[in-house]
Amino acid sequence: MIEYTDNILEINPDELNGFFVNWQNPPSSFKHYEILKNSDIVIFAVDSETKKVVGFINALTDKVLYAYIPLLEVLPDYLGKGIGKELMKLMTNKLKKFYAIDLCCDEDLEDFYRSFGFQKVSGMVKRNYQNQNGEY
Ligand SMILES: CC(C)(COP(=O)(O)OP(=O)(O)OC[C@H]1O[C@@H](n2cnc3c(N)ncnc32)[C@H](O)[C@@H]1OP(=O)(O)O)[C@@H](O)C(=O)NCCC(=O)NCCS
Repeated sequence: MIEYTDNILEINPDELNGFFVNWQNPPSSFKHYEILKNSDIVIFAVDSETKKVVGFINALTDKVLYAYIPLLEVLPDYLGKGIGKELMKLMTNKLKKFYAIDLCCDEDLEDFYRSFGFQKVSGMVKRNYQNQNGEY
């Protein structure tokens, strides 16, 4: 069974393994934990049998108007079981008072996010790939 929690105190850094699939220079589990600890809101999906984190989503906010969802990921063995959808449902519910909820995604995920009321806009981003692992 998959359980969901927004309490990072229930999670140990060593339970965060296997994420950042296909990232060239991924953050370590320790950095991953730091990212989530510093986020305004984080929700974890935990396999109740293994007690391992199998999915997560985080959000950064200005606490008034704007919220941004930088990361959402489900481990490869757990894809296609509705976990990503549930994490997005829980997060958009927590963020419902905000004027804007923004995120970036690949084109193949546009329909996934449209189903939560998101719309496509034009955007600009800058990426310093040498800093991708958070070690700087
Ligand atoms: C995106 C992601 C979190 C979805 O997680 P998931 O648990 O497999 O998703 P769900 O099982 O809840 O699927 C929900 C719906 O989204 C669709 N979907 C899921 N992943 C998709 C993908 N990569 N491309 C297109 N559609 C996708 C499913 O087909 C499903 O549609 P349905 O409700 O019509 O059946 C997962 O694919 C993932 O971790 N991807 C790698 C990291 C990533 O791309 N994160 C998003 C950054 S913006």
